[in-house]
Amino acid sequence: MEGEVSVSGGKNAAVAIIPAALLADSPSTIENIPDINDVHVIIEMLRWLGARVEFRDHTMWIDPRTVDRYNPPYELAGRMRASYYFAPVLLGVFGRAEVPLPGGCDIGARPIDQTVKGMCALGARVETLGGVVVAEADELIGDDIYLDMPSVGATVNSMLTAVSASGTTCIHNAAKEPHIVDLANFLSSMGAVVKGAGTDVIRIRGGRHLHGANYTVVPDQIETGTLMIAAAATAGDVLITGAIPTHMEALSAKLLEMGVSVTSEDDWIHVKSNGTFRSVNVKTQGYPGFPTDLQQPLSALLTVANGTSIVTETIFESRFRFLDELRKMGANVRVIESTAIISGVEKLVGARVNATDLRAGAAMMIAGLMADGVTEIGGIGYILRGYERFDEKLRSLGAKVETMHLTEVAF
Ligand code: EPU
Repeated sequence: MEGEVSVSGGKNAAVAIIPAALLADSPSTIENIPDINDVHVIIEMLRWLGARVEFRDHTMWIDPRTVDRYNPPYELAGRMRASYYFAPVLLGVFGRAEVPLPGGCDIGARPIDQTVKGMCALGARVETLGGVVVAEADELIGDDIYLDMPSVGATVNSMLTAVSASGTTCIHNAAKEPHIVDLANFLSSMGAVVKGAGTDVIRIRGGRHLHGANYTVVPDQIETGTLMIAAAATAGDVLITGAIPTHMEALSAKLLEMGVSVTSEDDWIHVKSNGTFRSVNVKTQGYPGFPTDLQQPLSALLTVANGTSIVTETIFESRFRFLDELRKMGANVRVIESTAIISGVEKLVGARVNATDLRAGAAMMIAGLMADGVTEIGGIGYILRGYERFDEKLRSLGAKVETMHLTEVAF
């Protein structure tokens, strides 16, 4: 692939920032929102709750003043992981929230015990009744929250609870992903006092009056990485614009180790490859470690590297299921518990495969771009959940990609 492509706004930032806009007493305008299915589900959810919403040209205007419900139905909430970000927000607004347990990609157990712990630490009573998280509080009071692991979801939910709690909340062992920092910046622009986002400890002075804000969402870290890997996979020469290179350091380091040229400055990253790759070992970790969301796309690339790569998945236990699909294309892969041993083959061959989740879908696209012959990927609804116009972007770089049938996927 050759040419220039721009990155869309961050999915995982947008899905946290949009619910936060309901905490304000006036409308917010949020720019650079990716036009993806998850965002359309959130819009339905906002409207169901009573908000007025407009979404045009990646800009969303949200008026929260008419919100009058705290109990979204399962048919909406179950369609997306981030639905549970509405729980602390509605709790802050109404003192009560009833939100069905999160859906999202089936990539392993996705418990919410840390979210519940955070909300309870600030004075909420939280129960899960018949698959619905029911949270109630007469008063939220800031306190220390100690997370057992730096969970992105629990950090977001603790932050969203803390801004409505009087006094100071300290979230210890917080996640440090770029979308956490972006949410903190949005909350600050609404008038909240949030310090330390991007480090292990986030301090929030809550209970302040929050107003609507104008804000621009950060570029999508995972889309950037997926495009970088796709560029390398196709022996490409691609300039990725509108990116934040410092968010990509773990991936850039791996690609350099594999023999791919990666250069960057300001808001662009240039990836150039001759199509031969050295094997590498990868272990997924929270930011700034190697992101689990890029494990699958990179594993696809490693199937054609010279030698054997060891990939260790420490975050989600089912994120190796897609390797069964890659085997259909000739990949030589063994999985032992949370480790995949990938012995590089000379060529993948096109086959009929399935996207088993969002990032697996991206991995199958990358495998298809590298393979001899045609690859047909089922379940592309997963890809549409989180990548904006992915097929179109790849086509603009010269890839031969066609979308045949758009089928809804079950979550
Ligand atoms: N965990 C618990 N208890 C909890 C929360 C998490 O045990 O209460 C465990 C999970 O089982 C997992 C680990 O902690 O092993 C990390 O999970 P985390 O909470 O960080 O993940 P998440 O919030 O459910 C977000 C992203 C995922 C991304 C992960 C890790 C959103 C909406 N989702 O999920 O994104 O993989 O963080 O970075 O932000 C994707 O975009 O494809 C995607 C799945």
